Amino acid sequence: MKSMDASAAHRSELVAVAAERRWAYVVGIIIVLLLAMMVFTSLHWAAMPPSRVETIDPRKLHISGEFVEGNLGTTLGADGKVVVRLIAQQYSFEPQCLVVPAEMPVTFRATSTDAIHGFVVGTTNANVMLVPGFIATFTTTFKKAGEQLMPCHEYCGTGHEAMWGRVQVIPPDEFLAKAGRGEGVSCVPR
Ligand code: CUA
Repeated sequence: MKSMDASAAHRSELVAVAAERRWAYVVGIIIVLLLAMMVFTSLHWAAMPPSRVETIDPRKLHISGEFVEGNLGTTLGADGKVVVRLIAQQYSFEPQCLVVPAEMPVTFRATSTDAIHGFVVGTTNANVMLVPGFIATFTTTFKKAGEQLMPCHEYCGTGHEAMWGRVQVIPPDEFLAKAGRGEGVSCVPR
């Protein structure tokens, strides 16, 4: 009886060892796969860096260049292109309110003066990270007129939840009429 117990114990030990070895193989394969992915992506990105990286000195934003206060907001260029420039800083956007046309391509150019902020326009796909030192840019077309919220969606400090602005998407003819009266189009009535 005693020897049968011993052989049963030996058998279950063999089963356990086999199971442990199987799992060790599985874990080993996962580790090798992850390492291979790391090597591949790092070589791949080193060989093919993102094609367009624009940098800017965040300490000089207010003093000169594209992001001085008078240049912020929405402009309709002579070429008919709509460009919005804005700055994110703890804890507000500058400007706090934007006016953009519906049904027309709008190019956003934005950056941050301090921490990493998030920029999103309501329920649209206008969504980008604002990183100090880099200019984020994208072009989108808003399908519908209406007001959208523009919250910061990246935790940027104790005032993060109070950091939001508004975007007024207005019909294109109304926008063109407003833009015709001046260089920029803002929420403040002129
Ligand atoms: Cu800025 Cu969160």
